[in-house]
Amino acid sequence: MGAPGGRRLASSTVSQTASSGDPGSLAGARCVVTGGLGFIGSNLVHALVDAGASVAVVDALVPEHGGALHNIAGLDVDVLRTEIGDPSVRDVLGDADVVFNLAGQVSHIESMRDPMRDLQLNTMSHAAFLEHLRAVNPGARVVHTSTRQVYGIPGDAAVDERHVTRPVDVNGVAKLAGEQLHSVYAKAHGMAITSLRLTNVYGPRQRLTSDHVGFLPVFFRKALRGQRIEIYGDGTQRRDCLFVSDVVDAIIAATDERVVGEVFNVGSRRDESLGSIAKLIVDATGSPGGVALVPWPKEEQRIDIGSFRTDSTRIHEALGWRSRVELADGIAATVDFYRGDAWYLSST
Ligand SMILES: NC(=O)c1ccc[n+]([C@@H]2O[C@H](COP(=O)([O-])OP(=O)(O)OC[C@H]3O[C@@H](n4cnc5c(N)ncnc54)[C@H](O)[C@@H]3O)[C@@H](O)[C@H]2O)c1
Repeated sequence: MGAPGGRRLASSTVSQTASSGDPGSLAGARCVVTGGLGFIGSNLVHALVDAGASVAVVDALVPEHGGALHNIAGLDVDVLRTEIGDPSVRDVLGDADVVFNLAGQVSHIESMRDPMRDLQLNTMSHAAFLEHLRAVNPGARVVHTSTRQVYGIPGDAAVDERHVTRPVDVNGVAKLAGEQLHSVYAKAHGMAITSLRLTNVYGPRQRLTSDHVGFLPVFFRKALRGQRIEIYGDGTQRRDCLFVSDVVDAIIAATDERVVGEVFNVGSRRDESLGSIAKLIVDATGSPGGVALVPWPKEEQRIDIGSFRTDSTRIHEALGWRSRVELADGIAATVDFYRGDAWYLSST
């Protein structure tokens, strides 16, 4: 693993990682996190730094995305502020033991408004990034984040990895292409890559001030401001929501060498209706705004996938990972976090 002089993770260490997603197994490892200033990336960076890993972040702070230096304030990490497709990334990739490739654009609506930009950020940049990595450090362990959006409208009650991939928006197409590029580099070039298809994630350090990066940050923002949460449709649509620490555990667990080349679903063990999720958030905040049902805006409805429940059996069987944080507990922790840091509600 890694370039000459790089350090291979001991297999005993790796198997501890496998069952628990224990960041401690990466103590002393040289890690690169792309998208490390964003929501999930910065939570991963905190876990890696706490564990004693040395961390370099590559992030372009793309406008309207969730990236902010505030997310890693006070941490001793190197930040390369650039596009992941830029040749300068070779400088940080060369001696990395583990590369966590999380950079991506997450807004489904924005992907329909500006499809070329989404394809650039989620596909073309990743093609260039993989070429840079292959040139300077083809032996690095890589974990990449994909999305359950690649499936489109689910045909089964619970969606496992065998489900057909038929995205309903440009974001799903671009993320699927980016994921498949990673699979090609794993198979054809023998690179040690694993991709994770994440469900809806929530928790600390998520950008709350955009209306276009999913329903959860909007629900939290409205409730924390005492405003009414508006649910499109009748509120019966169901989703499995995953607390960000569970995602970080899954990402770290996926560094296990036994799962090189695999693509896994990563979702919560329980799904809930949007109406119940909104009510839990209102209860946790004590928001006087309550919840209201409103008609679907056309722009959103045409790319909606309806109810979705992730089947994460394969990653559980392979690595022992499964979600641990109950929704009510995750919501309470999220509310506490934002109440303790006013920046997230005041930033634009
Ligand atoms: N948040 C979710 O619910 C969710 C669900 C499924 C999948 N994912 C995936 O997880 C990853 C992280 O998502 P997030 O919620 O933390 O998003 P985020 O917007 O908070 O963070 C993404 C970060 O990546 C950076 N970035 C984007 N494209 C880049 C590029 N080409 N070069 C350099 N930097 C770039 C942005 O500046 C931002 O800081 C993404 O790949 C996303 O597709 C997220």
